[in-house]
Amino acid sequence: MITVVGSINMDLVVRTNRFPKQGETALGDLYTTVPGGKGANQAVAAARLGSEVHMIGAVGTDAFGDELLAGLKAESIQVNNVKRVEGTSGIANILLSEGDNRIIVVPGANHQLTAVEMKAFESQLANSQMVIMQLEIPIPVIQRTLEICHQHGVPTILNPAPATGFTDEFLSYATYLTPNETEAEEMFGQDWEAALEQYPNRLIVTIGQKGARYFDGSRHVTVEGFATEAVDTTGAGDTFNGALGVALAESMPFEEAVRFANAAASLSVEKFGAQGGMPKRQEVLVRLGGREL
Ligand code: RIB
Repeated sequence: MITVVGSINMDLVVRTNRFPKQGETALGDLYTTVPGGKGANQAVAAARLGSEVHMIGAVGTDAFGDELLAGLKAESIQVNNVKRVEGTSGIANILLSEGDNRIIVVPGANHQLTAVEMKAFESQLANSQMVIMQLEIPIPVIQRTLEICHQHGVPTILNPAPATGFTDEFLSYATYLTPNETEAEEMFGQDWEAALEQYPNRLIVTIGQKGARYFDGSRHVTVEGFATEAVDTTGAGDTFNGALGVALAESMPFEEAVRFANAAASLSVEKFGAQGGMPKRQEVLVRLGGREL
Protein backbone atom coordinates (compact mmCIF):
# COMPACT_ATOMS: atom_id res chain seq x y z
CA MET A 1 0.00 0.00 0.00
CA ILE A 2 1.23 3.47 -0.92
CA THR A 3 0.07 6.61 0.86
CA VAL A 4 0.38 10.00 -0.80
CA VAL A 5 0.25 13.08 1.43
CA GLY A 6 -0.16 16.08 -0.82
CA SER A 7 -1.92 18.60 -2.95
CA ILE A 8 -5.07 18.17 -5.01
CA ASN A 9 -5.70 20.89 -7.60
CA MET A 10 -7.92 21.66 -10.52
CA ASP A 11 -5.66 22.63 -13.42
CA LEU A 12 -6.96 25.56 -15.48
CA VAL A 13 -5.04 25.05 -18.69
CA VAL A 14 -4.59 27.63 -21.44
CA ARG A 15 -2.59 26.86 -24.60
CA THR A 16 -1.04 29.51 -26.80
CA ASN A 17 1.54 29.41 -29.60
CA ARG A 18 4.00 31.62 -27.68
CA PHE A 19 4.34 32.88 -24.11
CA PRO A 20 3.21 36.55 -23.93
CA LYS A 21 5.78 39.13 -22.91
CA GLN A 22 5.25 41.15 -19.73
CA GLY A 23 2.26 43.48 -20.21
CA GLU A 24 1.26 41.82 -23.49
CA THR A 25 -2.01 40.06 -24.33
CA ALA A 26 -1.77 36.95 -26.46
CA LEU A 27 -4.49 34.80 -28.01
CA GLY A 28 -4.85 31.20 -26.94
CA ASP A 29 -6.34 28.28 -28.86
CA LEU A 30 -7.49 26.09 -25.97
CA TYR A 31 -8.90 26.43 -22.47
CA THR A 32 -9.87 23.44 -20.36
CA THR A 33 -9.94 22.20 -16.78
CA VAL A 34 -8.36 18.87 -15.83
CA PRO A 35 -7.57 17.30 -12.44
CA GLY A 36 -4.04 17.87 -11.17
CA GLY A 37 -2.00 18.81 -8.12
CA LYS A 38 1.35 17.14 -7.53
CA GLY A 39 -0.02 14.93 -4.76
CA ALA A 40 -3.08 13.75 -6.68
CA ASN A 41 -0.98 13.25 -9.82
CA GLN A 42 1.50 11.05 -7.97
CA ALA A 43 -1.37 9.08 -6.45
CA VAL A 44 -2.93 8.51 -9.89
CA ALA A 45 0.43 7.49 -11.37
CA ALA A 46 0.92 4.87 -8.64
CA ALA A 47 -2.66 3.59 -8.88
CA ARG A 48 -2.48 3.14 -12.68
CA LEU A 49 0.65 1.05 -12.16
CA GLY A 50 -1.30 -1.34 -9.96
CA SER A 51 -0.72 -0.17 -6.37
CA GLU A 52 -3.32 0.20 -3.68
CA VAL A 53 -3.16 3.96 -3.05
CA HIS A 54 -4.49 6.04 -0.16
CA MET A 55 -4.57 9.83 -0.40
CA ILE A 56 -4.27 12.27 2.51
CA GLY A 57 -5.14 15.85 1.56
CA ALA A 58 -7.89 18.45 1.37
CA VAL A 59 -10.34 19.85 -1.17
CA GLY A 60 -12.84 22.68 -0.86
CA THR A 61 -16.62 22.62 -0.69
CA ASP A 62 -16.80 24.07 -4.22
CA ALA A 63 -17.76 22.21 -7.40
CA PHE A 64 -14.06 21.55 -8.16
CA GLY A 65 -13.88 19.69 -4.84
CA ASP A 66 -16.67 17.31 -6.01
CA GLU A 67 -14.94 16.75 -9.36
CA LEU A 68 -11.52 16.20 -7.84
CA LEU A 69 -12.80 13.62 -5.36
CA ALA A 70 -14.78 11.83 -8.07
CA GLY A 71 -11.67 11.74 -10.26
CA LEU A 72 -9.56 10.14 -7.52
CA LYS A 73 -12.28 7.57 -6.76
CA ALA A 74 -12.53 6.70 -10.45
CA GLU A 75 -8.84 5.74 -10.27
CA SER A 76 -9.64 3.44 -7.29
CA ILE A 77 -7.75 5.72 -4.90
CA GLN A 78 -8.94 5.59 -1.28
CA VAL A 79 -10.10 9.11 -0.30
CA ASN A 80 -11.45 8.58 3.25
CA ASN A 81 -8.60 10.75 4.53
CA VAL A 82 -9.19 13.63 2.13
CA LYS A 83 -10.99 16.29 4.13
CA ARG A 84 -13.41 18.85 2.76
CA VAL A 85 -12.92 22.36 4.02
CA GLU A 86 -15.06 25.44 3.66
CA GLY A 87 -13.97 27.48 0.63
CA THR A 88 -12.23 26.84 -2.65
CA SER A 89 -10.11 23.89 -3.76
CA GLY A 90 -6.55 24.39 -4.89
CA ILE A 91 -6.14 25.50 -8.47
CA ALA A 92 -3.20 25.70 -10.85
CA ASN A 93 -3.13 28.21 -13.65
CA ILE A 94 -1.16 26.44 -16.37
CA LEU A 95 0.09 28.16 -19.49
CA LEU A 96 1.19 25.75 -22.21
CA SER A 97 3.42 26.94 -25.01
CA GLU A 98 6.65 26.23 -26.89
CA GLY A 99 6.68 22.61 -25.69
CA ASP A 100 6.80 23.68 -22.04
CA ASN A 101 4.63 25.09 -19.29
CA ARG A 102 4.45 27.91 -16.73
CA ILE A 103 2.40 27.25 -13.61
CA ILE A 104 0.96 29.38 -10.81
CA VAL A 105 -0.65 27.48 -7.95
CA VAL A 106 -3.22 28.99 -5.57
CA PRO A 107 -3.25 26.44 -2.72
CA GLY A 108 -6.81 27.03 -1.39
CA ALA A 109 -7.91 23.98 0.65
CA ASN A 110 -4.45 22.37 0.38
CA HIS A 111 -3.14 24.88 2.90
CA GLN A 112 -5.79 23.99 5.45
CA LEU A 113 -4.16 20.65 6.25
CA THR A 114 -2.50 20.89 9.68
CA ALA A 115 0.40 19.09 11.33
CA VAL A 116 -1.73 18.33 14.40
CA GLU A 117 -4.22 16.28 12.43
CA MET A 118 -1.49 14.02 11.01
CA LYS A 119 -1.58 12.13 14.33
CA ALA A 120 -4.99 10.78 13.31
CA PHE A 121 -3.36 9.23 10.21
CA GLU A 122 -0.55 7.55 12.15
CA SER A 123 -1.74 3.97 11.60
CA GLN A 124 -2.40 4.67 7.91
CA LEU A 125 1.17 5.93 7.54
CA ALA A 126 2.67 3.17 9.69
CA ASN A 127 1.02 0.46 7.59
CA SER A 128 2.24 1.86 4.26
CA GLN A 129 5.04 0.32 2.20
CA MET A 130 5.89 3.78 0.92
CA VAL A 131 4.75 7.34 1.70
CA ILE A 132 5.12 9.98 -1.01
CA MET A 133 5.07 13.76 -0.43
CA GLN A 134 5.71 17.01 -2.31
CA LEU A 135 5.84 20.63 -1.10
CA GLU A 136 2.48 22.07 -2.17
CA ILE A 137 1.02 21.58 1.32
CA PRO A 138 2.11 23.31 4.56
CA ILE A 139 5.71 22.53 5.55
CA PRO A 140 4.79 21.56 9.17
CA VAL A 141 2.54 18.83 7.71
CA ILE A 142 5.49 17.45 5.76
CA GLN A 143 7.73 17.64 8.84
CA ARG A 144 5.20 15.78 11.00
CA THR A 145 4.58 13.14 8.34
CA LEU A 146 8.30 12.52 7.94
CA GLU A 147 8.70 12.19 11.71
CA ILE A 148 5.87 9.66 11.98
CA CYS A 149 7.21 7.62 9.05
CA HIS A 150 10.73 7.75 10.50
CA GLN A 151 9.47 6.49 13.89
CA HIS A 152 7.74 3.56 12.21
CA GLY A 153 10.53 2.75 9.77
CA VAL A 154 8.34 3.51 6.77
CA PRO A 155 10.29 4.59 3.65
CA THR A 156 9.43 7.99 2.20
CA ILE A 157 9.89 9.82 -1.09
CA LEU A 158 10.00 13.58 -0.73
CA ASN A 159 9.65 15.29 -4.09
CA PRO A 160 10.81 18.83 -3.19
CA ALA A 161 8.57 20.63 -5.64
CA PRO A 162 8.30 23.53 -5.46
CA ALA A 163 11.71 23.70 -3.74
CA THR A 164 11.07 27.05 -2.04
CA GLY A 165 9.69 25.34 1.09
CA PHE A 166 12.61 22.95 1.40
CA THR A 167 14.43 22.84 4.75
CA ASP A 168 17.71 21.02 5.53
CA GLU A 169 15.91 18.99 8.19
CA PHE A 170 14.22 17.05 5.39
CA LEU A 171 17.61 15.73 4.31
CA SER A 172 17.96 13.60 7.41
CA TYR A 173 14.35 12.39 7.58
CA ALA A 174 13.34 11.63 3.99
CA THR A 175 14.50 8.26 2.66
CA TYR A 176 14.56 9.45 -0.97
CA LEU A 177 14.66 12.98 -2.42
CA THR A 178 13.72 13.57 -6.04
CA PRO A 179 14.31 17.17 -7.18
CA ASN A 180 14.57 18.13 -10.83
CA GLU A 181 17.66 20.08 -11.91
CA THR A 182 16.19 23.48 -11.06
CA GLU A 183 15.06 22.32 -7.65
CA ALA A 184 18.42 20.63 -7.01
CA GLU A 185 20.13 23.94 -7.75
CA GLU A 186 17.84 25.76 -5.30
CA MET A 187 18.60 23.15 -2.62
CA PHE A 188 22.33 22.63 -3.09
CA GLY A 189 23.52 25.46 -5.33
CA GLN A 190 25.01 25.18 -8.81
CA ASP A 191 27.27 22.32 -7.79
CA TRP A 192 24.38 19.99 -6.97
CA GLU A 193 26.25 17.10 -8.59
CA ALA A 194 28.63 17.11 -5.62
CA ALA A 195 25.64 16.73 -3.30
CA LEU A 196 24.75 13.43 -4.97
CA GLU A 197 27.82 11.93 -3.30
CA GLN A 198 26.60 12.97 0.13
CA TYR A 199 23.33 11.09 -0.29
CA PRO A 200 24.12 7.86 -2.12
CA ASN A 201 21.10 5.94 -3.43
CA ARG A 202 18.87 8.56 -1.79
CA LEU A 203 19.16 11.73 -3.83
CA ILE A 204 17.88 11.24 -7.39
CA VAL A 205 17.90 14.27 -9.68
CA THR A 206 15.60 14.07 -12.69
CA ILE A 207 17.02 15.65 -15.84
CA GLY A 208 13.98 15.73 -18.14
CA GLN A 209 14.10 13.56 -21.25
CA LYS A 210 17.70 12.69 -20.45
CA GLY A 211 16.61 10.58 -17.47
CA ALA A 212 17.82 10.74 -13.88
CA ARG A 213 21.09 10.84 -11.96
CA TYR A 214 22.27 9.55 -8.59
CA PHE A 215 25.41 8.33 -6.85
CA ASP A 216 25.45 4.64 -5.88
CA GLY A 217 28.16 4.81 -3.23
CA SER A 218 31.07 4.31 -5.61
CA ARG A 219 30.07 5.79 -8.97
CA HIS A 220 27.81 8.40 -10.51
CA VAL A 221 24.95 6.76 -12.39
CA THR A 222 22.88 8.28 -15.18
CA VAL A 223 19.81 6.21 -15.95
CA GLU A 224 18.97 7.20 -19.52
CA GLY A 225 15.50 8.50 -20.34
CA PHE A 226 13.41 7.41 -23.31
CA ALA A 227 13.18 9.59 -26.42
CA THR A 228 9.60 10.53 -27.16
CA GLU A 229 7.35 13.09 -28.89
CA ALA A 230 6.06 15.32 -26.08
CA VAL A 231 2.51 16.68 -26.32
CA ASP A 232 2.35 18.03 -22.76
CA THR A 233 5.11 17.70 -20.16
CA THR A 234 2.86 18.69 -17.22
CA GLY A 235 2.93 15.92 -14.62
CA ALA A 236 5.98 14.08 -16.01
CA GLY A 237 7.84 14.57 -12.73
CA ASP A 238 4.79 13.41 -10.80
CA THR A 239 4.59 10.27 -12.91
CA PHE A 240 8.27 9.64 -12.22
CA ASN A 241 7.66 9.90 -8.47
CA GLY A 242 4.52 7.76 -8.41
CA ALA A 243 6.23 5.08 -10.48
CA LEU A 244 9.41 5.20 -8.40
CA GLY A 245 7.28 4.75 -5.28
CA VAL A 246 5.59 1.69 -6.78
CA ALA A 247 8.88 0.14 -7.87
CA LEU A 248 10.69 0.73 -4.58
CA ALA A 249 7.68 -0.47 -2.56
CA GLU A 250 7.93 -3.69 -4.57
CA SER A 251 11.65 -3.92 -3.67
CA MET A 252 12.78 -3.55 -7.26
CA PRO A 253 16.59 -3.05 -7.43
CA PHE A 254 17.38 0.66 -7.28
CA GLU A 255 18.62 1.19 -10.84
CA GLU A 256 15.72 -0.85 -12.26
CA ALA A 257 13.29 1.22 -10.21
CA VAL A 258 14.69 4.46 -11.64
CA ARG A 259 14.50 3.03 -15.18
CA PHE A 260 10.89 1.97 -14.56
CA ALA A 261 10.09 5.52 -13.39
CA ASN A 262 11.83 7.02 -16.45
CA ALA A 263 9.78 4.81 -18.77
CA ALA A 264 6.53 5.78 -17.05
CA ALA A 265 7.42 9.49 -17.21
CA SER A 266 8.27 9.28 -20.92
CA LEU A 267 4.84 7.80 -21.65
CA SER A 268 3.06 10.43 -19.56
CA VAL A 269 4.13 13.31 -21.81
CA GLU A 270 2.60 11.77 -24.93
CA LYS A 271 -0.95 12.86 -24.05
CA PHE A 272 -2.57 16.08 -22.90
CA GLY A 273 -3.04 16.93 -19.19
CA ALA A 274 -1.08 16.09 -16.07
CA GLN A 275 -2.89 12.78 -15.62
CA GLY A 276 -3.99 12.21 -19.23
CA GLY A 277 -0.93 10.25 -20.33
CA MET A 278 -0.09 8.40 -17.12
CA PRO A 279 0.45 4.81 -18.19
CA LYS A 280 -0.77 1.43 -17.02
CA ARG A 281 1.90 -1.08 -16.01
CA GLN A 282 1.68 -3.04 -19.26
CA GLU A 283 2.53 0.07 -21.30
CA VAL A 284 5.59 0.67 -19.13
CA LEU A 285 6.74 -2.91 -19.61
CA VAL A 286 6.42 -2.52 -23.38
CA ARG A 287 8.47 0.69 -23.28
CA LEU A 288 11.11 -1.12 -21.27
CA GLY A 289 11.38 -3.64 -24.06
CA GLY A 290 8.96 -6.25 -22.79
CA ARG A 291 11.23 -7.17 -19.91
CA GLU A 292 9.49 -8.74 -16.89
CA LEU A 293 10.02 -6.81 -13.69
O1 RIB B 1 3.35 18.88 -11.48
C1 RIB B 1 2.24 19.35 -12.21
C2 RIB B 1 1.21 19.89 -11.27
O2 RIB B 1 1.73 21.03 -10.63
C3 RIB B 1 -0.06 20.35 -11.94
O3 RIB B 1 -1.02 19.33 -12.08
C4 RIB B 1 -0.50 21.50 -11.07
O4 RIB B 1 -1.68 21.28 -10.36
C5 RIB B 1 0.66 21.81 -10.14
O5 RIB B 1 0.42 21.37 -8.88
